[in-house]
Amino acid sequence: MQEIGNDIREQIKARRTFAIISHPDAGKTTLTEKFLLYGGAINQAGSVKGKATARHAVSDWMEIEKERGISVTSSALQFHYQGCCINILDTPGHQDFSEDTYRTLMAADSAVMVIDASKGVEAQTRKLFKVCTMRHIPIFTFINKMDRDALDTFELLDDIENELGIATCPMNWPIGSGKSFKGVYDRGTGEIELFSDTKKGTAQGRVRRIPVDDPEADAWIGESQKNQLKEEIELQDGAGAQFDQELVTKGELSPVFFGSALTNFGVETFLRHFLSMTSAPLPRMSDQGEIDPMKEQDFSAFVFKIQANMNRAHRDRIAFMRVCSGVFEAGMEVYHIQGGKKVRLSQPQQLMASERRMIDRAYGGDIIGVFDPGIFSIGDTLTASPKKYAYEGIPTFAPEHFARVRQMDTMKRKQFIKGVNQIAQEGAIQIFQEYNTGMEEIIVGVVGVLQFDVLKYRLENEYNVEIRMDSLPYEYIRWIENEDIDMNRLTGTSDMKKIKDLKGRPLLLFVNEWSIRMTQERNEGLRLAEFGR
Ligand code: G4P
Repeated sequence: MQEIGNDIREQIKARRTFAIISHPDAGKTTLTEKFLLYGGAINQAGSVKGKATARHAVSDWMEIEKERGISVTSSALQFHYQGCCINILDTPGHQDFSEDTYRTLMAADSAVMVIDASKGVEAQTRKLFKVCTMRHIPIFTFINKMDRDALDTFELLDDIENELGIATCPMNWPIGSGKSFKGVYDRGTGEIELFSDTKKGTAQGRVRRIPVDDPEADAWIGESQKNQLKEEIELQDGAGAQFDQELVTKGELSPVFFGSALTNFGVETFLRHFLSMTSAPLPRMSDQGEIDPMKEQDFSAFVFKIQANMNRAHRDRIAFMRVCSGVFEAGMEVYHIQGGKKVRLSQPQQLMASERRMIDRAYGGDIIGVFDPGIFSIGDTLTASPKKYAYEGIPTFAPEHFARVRQMDTMKRKQFIKGVNQIAQEGAIQIFQEYNTGMEEIIVGVVGVLQFDVLKYRLENEYNVEIRMDSLPYEYIRWIENEDIDMNRLTGTSDMKKIKDLKGRPLLLFVNEWSIRMTQERNEGLRLAEFGR
């Protein structure tokens, strides 16, 4: 194997690629914006998304999303801070778009979880978290909005531990909340960072720190809050988990930080610690074994997201990929493993705050978007190496809503089939068929119901096909893992439905969990999976 050059290794070592996850409104966008301010990538609050000023996020490309004021798509942003080159994978905030979010997590090396201090863990966070734990990636928690009345600190930590099944280690500790929020106590240095809300909107919030024993600290906090802090810290020191970098790396312990993104408090502290605790781009599994970016000289990448019509005037499609090793250079010819051919990756771009920009180079860990003439699918591998290998695919996440879909005008059958297939290839919807019939009836599965609207809108606007959709009562889908299954002999509850995907693989639809259990009881040895491989 050719030795990897030092310059490439240094570039990759400096990379940090992570996804930000949260329940809508917890403050993900505000936190991202503050990160970008620190990195000097933007110089004005509101550049990422300003609801108040009606500015829209980089990803607002579709009318439907503007109408609803939500962000349909995920985007990747890059900035530099203290010698690190940071790639943030932003994830759609609306719960209806979680399948894209799931996939985005597959491209990250760690995740930052933003939690609203007054709400604790919310439904959306729980789902996303499952994907992080499946991948064993490190998870860092930022408990936001401490300038508002918050839940009790122990309660918040318990909530994370119980709901998500991960141990927590608070790196700092809040002193009060809302009107009585005085700052945070740094458990590592014994200093207090004094809260002030005057940093709102400024680029760098210089935070004052004083030792907890300093008389000035007493004056700032007041006796009763100081006593409470002492008690809480003693309790936490005695009963809580110790910081352990190895457990953090394995995704078993989440370092927790408290702050307020809006007032720019605790953000830089979080960013600094986070960058030192998270890792440079990690090795990825392929069918030829692990590919380590610190050892593999040649370029390789996998596609984790396909986005159509970023630019409506051009009807283009962009494939977003994570560079896993080596260097990408604009116009480079690479091998598309699944397509079995060489392709030239053209118009490479990265997203920077509110604009797309063309790039010449990208390194392992970076996220790039390239023009896709309709050949790529989610999970595809690209390599520049003479030895070809394919990265482990991205699992198909279980849709939770199903509908039977038909075109209104039978003459438009061809456009209809083309449309649903292309949209499915992008990963926005999943399509299935009845088990025993042909392509006549199509069953569409989506993770969030809004994707039905997206499908209807796009078929009408891009393919000129009107459709009729009848929703189906199923909420659970399971892939059958037994290879030798005889579908005709499989018996389930009367409301169970047998279907197949486009590759002909058999699946089952269920109305409730009881029905899944009954079916398993009635068919000994039946192995059902929640993710499709
Ligand atoms: P999201 O991306 O997770 O959906 O959340 P986003 O950052 O858009 O924040 C949701 C709302 O919470 C915004 O208010 C934002 O200003 C507010 N917010 C974020 N961080 C903090 C914080 O630390 N403290 C307080 N008090 N509020 C915070 P909005 O009124 O919905 O929008 P906007 O008009 O302020 O943009």
